[in-house]
Amino acid sequence: MFTANDFIPNSYSKTIENGSFQWSAPSNIALVKYWGKKTNQIPANPSVSFTLNHCKTITKLAFEKNRNSGNFSFDLLFEGKPKEDFKPKIQKFFERIESYLPFLKDYHFTIDTQNTFPHSSGIASSASGMSALAMNLMRLEKALNPEMTEEYFYQKASFLARLGSGSACRSVKGKVVVWGNQANIKGSSDEYGVEYPYRIHDNFKNYQDTILLVDKGEKQVSSTVGHDLMHNHPFAERRFAQAHENLDKLIAIFEKGNLEEFIQIVESEALTLHAMMMTSMPYFILMKPNTLEIINRIWKFRKDTQTPVCFTLDAGANVHVLYPENVKEKVLQFIKAELVGYCQNEQYICDDIGEGAIEY
Ligand code: PMV
Repeated sequence: MFTANDFIPNSYSKTIENGSFQWSAPSNIALVKYWGKKTNQIPANPSVSFTLNHCKTITKLAFEKNRNSGNFSFDLLFEGKPKEDFKPKIQKFFERIESYLPFLKDYHFTIDTQNTFPHSSGIASSASGMSALAMNLMRLEKALNPEMTEEYFYQKASFLARLGSGSACRSVKGKVVVWGNQANIKGSSDEYGVEYPYRIHDNFKNYQDTILLVDKGEKQVSSTVGHDLMHNHPFAERRFAQAHENLDKLIAIFEKGNLEEFIQIVESEALTLHAMMMTSMPYFILMKPNTLEIINRIWKFRKDTQTPVCFTLDAGANVHVLYPENVKEKVLQFIKAELVGYCQNEQYICDDIGEGAIEY
């Protein structure tokens, strides 16, 4: 296991003038939610997520030596066009990771990025985006230091991604990733995400996630503000303890494939996340009326048909519908018949569990 100090390099054995790399990294959906953080993006509680497969960011990083610049130097393109409003986030990310990647000021970078999912769909692109950028930067470091091990490469990539956006650290690897120190999960760390190390029942193989786009608008309250409001939150300590308890319960659930218990934990986590928002000071609500309509429809369908389908929510109004692969036809039929009417422009995205970041 590495610690933050292990990620500060001493020297590099190679020099490189210019070149480019390209990586894709997927989004992920948390089952036990991260909400609340300490300094340096250390999570207040551990979380676990399914890595997604189709919803991803593809980022090309071109670089050339830029002597004596003394500053970070980069251009940012989104879907091939300059995107000035993304730049401050990248600037801040570079500042946070500079001590771990001391070559950052030696190059001019062109970051060319695109998502496979519709822009402003309300899907968090920061997880896939920061992860894809971290992979490229690590790939450059690996070129400067080819002796680096695979383990170091991926753990440091996740560590760096975390400093860009917390949940991004869970997008480096698949299929189930734990982030945050949990006594009963070997290798788990507050500093980076690790692949879930124990047995996972076949019931969860190719688990499906259909994302219903309820509201594609800009969120009224950002995740950053939301995390902050967990400081001095009246229920914070109990909530953080509950996340540990739920993660422990999931170990047995993953092992046995108990879908009923899985559903209970996952839906409770989603509603607890939103309950924390509603009980913050100031309080806020990110769900929309259609979010609640969908939840009620899912509950009714599950009761009427005994189909093991459930929902989860991110920090937004969209609903992730989770279900095993063997009920895919039936659930998709239900979604088309009963749920798409609650989506903006009837839009939804079909995804499933994926493997993590890939080099192109
Ligand atoms: O990674 P951030 O800071 O955008 O936080 C995201 C937190 C949730 O998506 C609400 C939960 C999670 O664990 O992904």
